Amino acid sequence: MERELVIVLDFGGQYNQLIARRVRECNVYCEVHPCTLSLEKIREMHPKGIIFTGGPNSVYGEDSPRCPKEMFEMGIPILGICYGSQLMAYMLGGSVKTAPVSEYGKTEVDVDTASPIFENVSEKTICWMSHTDYIESAPTDFKVTAHTPVCPVAGMENAGKKLYAVQFHPEVMHTQEGKQMLSNFVYNVCGCSGDWKMDSFVETTIRQIREKVGGGKVLCALSGGVDSSVAAVLLSKAVGKQLTCVFVDHGLLRKNEGDEVESVFGPEGQYDLNFVRVNAQERFYGKLAGVTDPEKKRKIIGEEFIRVFEEEAKKIGAVDFLVQGTIYPDVIESGLGKSAVIKSHHNVGGLPDCVDFKEIIEPLRLLFKDEVRRAGLELGIPDYLVYRQPFPGPGLGVRIVGEVTADKVRIVQDADAIYREELAKAGCDKGLGQYFAALTNMRSVGVMGDERTYDYAVALRAVITSDFMTAEAAEIPFEVLSKVMNRVINEVKGVNRVLYDLTSKPPGTIEFE
Ligand code: XMP
Repeated sequence: MERELVIVLDFGGQYNQLIARRVRECNVYCEVHPCTLSLEKIREMHPKGIIFTGGPNSVYGEDSPRCPKEMFEMGIPILGICYGSQLMAYMLGGSVKTAPVSEYGKTEVDVDTASPIFENVSEKTICWMSHTDYIESAPTDFKVTAHTPVCPVAGMENAGKKLYAVQFHPEVMHTQEGKQMLSNFVYNVCGCSGDWKMDSFVETTIRQIREKVGGGKVLCALSGGVDSSVAAVLLSKAVGKQLTCVFVDHGLLRKNEGDEVESVFGPEGQYDLNFVRVNAQERFYGKLAGVTDPEKKRKIIGEEFIRVFEEEAKKIGAVDFLVQGTIYPDVIESGLGKSAVIKSHHNVGGLPDCVDFKEIIEPLRLLFKDEVRRAGLELGIPDYLVYRQPFPGPGLGVRIVGEVTADKVRIVQDADAIYREELAKAGCDKGLGQYFAALTNMRSVGVMGDERTYDYAVALRAVITSDFMTAEAAEIPFEVLSKVMNRVINEVKGVNRVLYDLTSKPPGTIEFE
């Protein structure tokens, strides 16, 4: 049976991924595609519905993205959001105007609860608006289903043609009943039954991997992070010992992390796979000796990782498939990515250029991060691995400002372990996006006992973020920070000062380098 699909057509809005996530939260599979997707392709995909996203343009702009008019005649339900709603109005004969001032923020909207989109929604409901243009009048065969004092058409529909539009953003959390509206669209209007479930994803993927791999050999770079762990377990369930996981310990992992990964995936662990742990600490420290520039450090770690991985791959011999933990946001972003390089990100599990593989397997390329976690739980991976906070590929290398040495790694590992332990004990770790200790390159004077000290300052960081593109420093209770300070200074040799980083992102970044 074909899986139900809803397509999001991206007109350049900021929230396109979020729309897809919300639809998937309703158990309906959803993909994001550029707004230039052809009618022919759309027909081949048999979508149950289409959602037009918002976007920065005005429908009157010469280069503004459009869709073919026939799209409205295909009989496929369409929901237009923000720019998508204006486009629908404009192309079907309504009128769109530019307001003298933008309507932005939480707004009370009056909705017609007889509309299938607003079923079980309050008559007055708080929605998130973000627009300058607005629909002044709906096309003649449309009914207005929502309005605000300044927005005469905040919602409209032509139920016969299954065309619906809302000026606000149902996908963002600030629209209090937005999820209900999207659920109404996919169930009431598109007639979906909700067949996107993690157990069926896991089952189908395992079957597909078996068919693809046959008797071939598979190689996976395991970092211990959520994505590569879930990918590895999926592969091991599918092809067992045909899979070899290579775990490169670059000496820049958190305290005990190497052993934790080995205890889950190694010979004593619960999975039937070949596990190779490469202890390459000295090799990495050697390459990093004397290097202080953050970008150079990142490049060295990334490059060395690939070299070690290649050497192991050659030892294993003719490998047919390489597994990568690519997830859906990477797929979307690599299709559209236009942003400036702030840091050259290195994902352990990146693709070596000069090793020969027949094919790449990316079992998670359809999943969002929260879905990867659900798949991980479904596969029986321990909770602490599934809910692990993100950890950068270059590891502690980017949490030690300046030159990396084995001694500094020890300091940051020990301080970080104390910090994490105390946050967990105090119950402050919930709701934090990321939290860790970093080692500044600053040494300062202190006094311990009756002795003068001249030691390093450790910085503690904890941020609240949902997308890691922006972040705010978390308000950790002072007594918890004090306790961490005490323990770090008493227990970690080489540290005589502890600082808390208050910087948000921007202007800071989450990691120190
Ligand atoms: P920044 O420091 O850029 O970090 O604010 C944003 C998020 O990305 C993570 N990060 C990385 N992840 N490879 C990764 O896989 C990297 O090279 C890398 N650098 C930063 C960082 O931990 C945060 O979650």
